[in-house]
Amino acid sequence: MPATIIVGAQWGDEGKGKATDLLADTTDLVVRYQGGNNAGHTVIVGDEVFKLHLIPSGILYPHVTPVIGDGVVIDPKVMLEEFDGLEARGLDPFSRVKISGNAHLIMPYHRELDLLIERRLGKAKLGTTKRGIGPAYADKASRVGLRFQDLFDEKIFRQKLDAVLVHKNEQLAKIYNRLPMSADEIAEEYLGYAERLRASLCDTTDLIHTSLDAGRHIILEGAQGTLLDLDHGTYPFVTSSNPVAGGALTGAGLGPRHVDRVIAITKAYVTRVGAGPFPTELHDEVAERMTAAGGEYGTTTGRRRRVGWFDAVLARYANRVNGFTDVFLTKLDVLSEFETLKVAVGYRYQGETYRHFPPHQSIFHHAEPVYETLPGWGTDISEVTSYDDLPAEAKAYVETVEEHAEAPVTWVSVGPKRSQTLVRRDVPLVPGS
Ligand code: GDP
Ligand code: IMO
Ligand code: MG
Repeated sequence: MPATIIVGAQWGDEGKGKATDLLADTTDLVVRYQGGNNAGHTVIVGDEVFKLHLIPSGILYPHVTPVIGDGVVIDPKVMLEEFDGLEARGLDPFSRVKISGNAHLIMPYHRELDLLIERRLGKAKLGTTKRGIGPAYADKASRVGLRFQDLFDEKIFRQKLDAVLVHKNEQLAKIYNRLPMSADEIAEEYLGYAERLRASLCDTTDLIHTSLDAGRHIILEGAQGTLLDLDHGTYPFVTSSNPVAGGALTGAGLGPRHVDRVIAITKAYVTRVGAGPFPTELHDEVAERMTAAGGEYGTTTGRRRRVGWFDAVLARYANRVNGFTDVFLTKLDVLSEFETLKVAVGYRYQGETYRHFPPHQSIFHHAEPVYETLPGWGTDISEVTSYDDLPAEAKAYVETVEEHAEAPVTWVSVGPKRSQTLVRRDVPLVPGS
């Protein structure tokens, strides 16, 4: 049975955790394919709130095997904290989570360099999550990274660490005037983590393909979002991996033939954490209300998210670079707050109008949104349980999103809980289920 990709269509925090958790009900494996603990995915089950950073959102169903794929970067210290936290809440991540030996490790010098590079950039900083993500992916591309499998071979781990640490310490001392790091201390710390994570090491390529061959269903859970993609996002204000659907293939070890569904997760408005261009960003009283109603504070860093109206240009672009089969529209309830709603349908720059994502960053940086105005519905929709019962204006808004995103909105989310989801068309994720 083919796999399903769940991908963020904006700048992250679209509600991928909620969507993945909801859809994982009918799946066997949930695979994280890129990113690291820069992600923060919130899942609410009953009265319990789970904030997952590295562990795939499928962990909350006993029948799901959560998998960390080749394309992820792992900070083992953070991973163990997350494992311990979930174990204390009655789950068993130590025996259930399977981790690819090819996933790269975030090392202490990656975290340190992330901080130092940002500090040196001053006003031009990206506003990273400071988790060492960029430096870890840079080392992977430079072929000097350490991988999860290296934790289980002390000799190789030491050889690789000694070789790379010479350069890292030079960088730390000579460029940033910091004290060098000790290979002995890092090795002792990391090999200690290895003891606790041994049961998780897995040939995930084999696990994934054996499952597909047996007719099982797989969800590939993205972190971040399309506009944060290293190649297709708003570079350089991006993360260092490929959240787009193509990244799911390389990050999990699949080919295009193995996937038949790409579900876009998008908010009914837009948010962004960290620096970078954002054409529909709001700074007025509307922004205050949107932030408050949406609870727009980061799951990982607690930073206030920037907010703005829905941007159809970005939705169209995201569909082009991902190939959506469906849209999962989240946080529609937050817009109940407003009397009128705006949707950016194009940009204006130096007398030209752009309907599609502009080819040059300067255009995007200075783009003036061209808005269409829609009426609000002025009533709480968070308790609505059927799409048909939504106010006509809310349905019209969903249809506008659908028209611009050029893909069917199959799910409409009206609150953070599993039950607060309206299925637009009855398209079962797994045929026959
Ligand atoms: P992710 O990173 O894409 O998984 O998203 P986050 O979990 O970082 O941020 C989404 C936030 O919105 C979380 O706090 C969710 O609980 C919450 N959320 C998800 N869907 C909805 C919705 O439809 N309505 C409301 N009000 N909150 C939602
Ligand atoms: P989820 O999976 C929102 C942003 C950071 C910064 C940029 C680069 O929860 O949607 P990094 O630490 O990755 O080098 O930071 O990317 N960023 C996110 N924004 N949601 C995320 O993850 C993010 N992960 C990274 O704020 O602007
Ligand atoms: Mg998040």
